[in-house]
Amino acid sequence: MANIAVLGAGYVGLIQAAGLAELGHRVAVGERLADRVDQLARGVVPIAEPGVAEVLASHEVRFTTDNAEAAAGADIVFVAVPTPPSQDGSADLTFVEAAIDSIVEVLAPDAVVAIKSTVPIGTTRRIRRYLRKSHPDAEVVSNPEFLREGSALADFRSPDRIVIGSDSQGAAERLAEVYSGLDAPILTMGPEDAEAAKYASNAFLATKLAFVNDMAILCERTGADISQVTDAMGLDPRIGSHFLRPGPGFGGSCLPKDTSSLLSQANAHGFAFPVLANVVEANRLHQRRFVAVLDRELGGVDGKRIAVWGIAFKKDTDDIRDSAAIAMIDELLRRGATVVVHDPAATLPDVEGAHQVAEALEAAAGADALLIATEWGQYATADPSALGSAMAGTLVVDARGVIDVGAFEAAGLSCIPVGRGPKKE
Ligand code: UGA
Repeated sequence: MANIAVLGAGYVGLIQAAGLAELGHRVAVGERLADRVDQLARGVVPIAEPGVAEVLASHEVRFTTDNAEAAAGADIVFVAVPTPPSQDGSADLTFVEAAIDSIVEVLAPDAVVAIKSTVPIGTTRRIRRYLRKSHPDAEVVSNPEFLREGSALADFRSPDRIVIGSDSQGAAERLAEVYSGLDAPILTMGPEDAEAAKYASNAFLATKLAFVNDMAILCERTGADISQVTDAMGLDPRIGSHFLRPGPGFGGSCLPKDTSSLLSQANAHGFAFPVLANVVEANRLHQRRFVAVLDRELGGVDGKRIAVWGIAFKKDTDDIRDSAAIAMIDELLRRGATVVVHDPAATLPDVEGAHQVAEALEAAAGADALLIATEWGQYATADPSALGSAMAGTLVVDARGVIDVGAFEAAGLSCIPVGRGPKKE
């Protein structure tokens, strides 16, 4: 059992804390937001992530607003604070630097600092150099996370791989020991390799999606069906069937931020990274193109009432960070539409011209068109005749490809699903 400190009680930090507590370690979490610490101390978990509340309720995890208190006496200190994008797309390291400064005084001479936050290539080494000014033996290792929101705890418990980036074999072994209860390959490499592996994984996933979403556009124009195409592609093990679902572009707190950051790192090194530059650009188009479809089909959305089903960036989460749904709602409002929104978990921020209601059918009531923006299960099983009676118009734009088009059309609705154009004669 090790003494663990986790700095940051966000999506990454809370999963790390819960997962390590479950593995039998003694865990303390430092979080600068006092409200969040109060909530957690009362057993209220501020993120909708299956299983986390249960694990935190049944294990003793300490929460404090004082990072130094959490890190005092810790064998391993995990840094799991955000690295949000700056104006120019590069990663803002303010929170990481502040977290490191907050523990310098109390860091045990033989403690290992593990960077879980996604940081630009070279950062881990730079932090080690900085810490070594006051702690000559300090070890800082890169330990990127590969969790998906919505299944983060399950991903922690059975990871595809654990990546440890360190030049020190001793530090790498001490970190590996912490995860010894998990059945996963542990890859030890240099810190730059580990940092790059994290960006490369997310950027590659983003590239896969940008390609599928572009392919979906071509399918719409040629009469092919993207779901048939991806079924056939996915059976080639070199391609794989995961991450081939077309939609309104990739969103969330990771893929958009990490692609922009990797691109900005490449540019800073004089490399244009044309593939990635196009992925970022294509995603901007994908995030808005369904509004253009609505505009075209309705003869302009100005003054129209549009129902939007889903605001979370994907199903099974309440997270709206960089959600394509929000981008589409903003664009609809900019073009003069009135928007009524439903989402079973996420909350619409205050915006003029849009409001949220409690039921999906209520959102559709009197709407000229319906846009399905998130792939929640309940939308896939919605009753088309009830929907048809509730709506004023008949147009359903399914940006996630979840509905049964035949059943919807039989109920008198006219459907435009992603990646499926009218069949050619
Ligand atoms: C992503 C990566 O999948 C994780 O491996 C990584 O650890 C994480 O970022 C991170 O860096 O922290 P996440 O952002 O939770 O995880 O969500 P994903 O499931 O990857 O979805 C990202 C976006 O792609 C969403 O907007 C989703 O709707 C979209 N997507 C995903 C599709 O449109 N189609 C798909 O087939 C898969």
